[in-house]
Amino acid sequence: AHPIPVITIDGPTASGKGTVSHLVAQQLGFHYLDSGALYRLTALSALRKGVALGDEHALAKLARALHCSFAGEDVFLGQENVAAAIRAEEVGNTASKIAALPAVRQALFGLQLDFHKAPGLVADGRDMGSVIFPHAPLKVFLTASVEARAERRYKQLIGKGFPANMDDLLKDLRERDERDTNRKVAPLKPAEGAYVLDTSAMNAQQAVEQVLGWYAGLKKQHVV
Ligand code: CDP
Ligand code: CDP
Repeated sequence: AHPIPVITIDGPTASGKGTVSHLVAQQLGFHYLDSGALYRLTALSALRKGVALGDEHALAKLARALHCSFAGEDVFLGQENVAAAIRAEEVGNTASKIAALPAVRQALFGLQLDFHKAPGLVADGRDMGSVIFPHAPLKVFLTASVEARAERRYKQLIGKGFPANMDDLLKDLRERDERDTNRKVAPLKPAEGAYVLDTSAMNAQQAVEQVLGWYAGLKKQHVV
């Protein structure tokens, strides 16, 4: 029989990875790994504890000791539901900074593999296809123009009651893209064999249908 299937969905911030991965997982009845949430949880923890963002050793220790759990839309740090708190832009920016540290990435490695359970997994992040699940039968690289992504993030933040400003968002997104793309460890780029999907002119449902279509194609060929 085939090993437990994994679909990896990597891409830049606000490309729709979370939304698309969630819906694909729901359709297939698969588990879902939001690997960005693990970096965000580590960042939130560091910000709260006042750990210096240059202290790689202390940050890796925090990441290793992370007590988190996921239930639907909820994300728990210990007993506290931090689903909204980890979505703040400051936490995302801090996450992107600490994610450049090899010891932090190493500390979160095993935790991510734990999500690989029957009947299957949809894994969302930056290095799901390149580093964490390099043998995934279906790898997707979701992308969209920086303008389209800034607009999506703007609507999302306003909708959740966070303050948002389009110029700041564009600047933040460009900085984050730059940092995620140019870092030495696990830089953001399409994994070998990944299908690249530019969703600038697509809605989330169309992106979901494309991914499900690719997966159905692999089933037909008995690859999964
Ligand atoms: O939602 P958004 O794409 O903005 O971010 P996220 O997926 O929640 O991830 C937050 C930050 O964590 C990103 O900017 C990345 O720097 C980092 N990250 C990573 O390095 N590797 C992953 N597999 C997932 C996230
Ligand atoms: O996880 P990532 O940061 O890549 O993106 P997200 O948190 O899923 O946010 C994407 C936002 O854009 C959501 O509000 C989606 O409804 C919307 N969107 C999308 O995901 N895909 C499109 N093709 C168009 C819009």
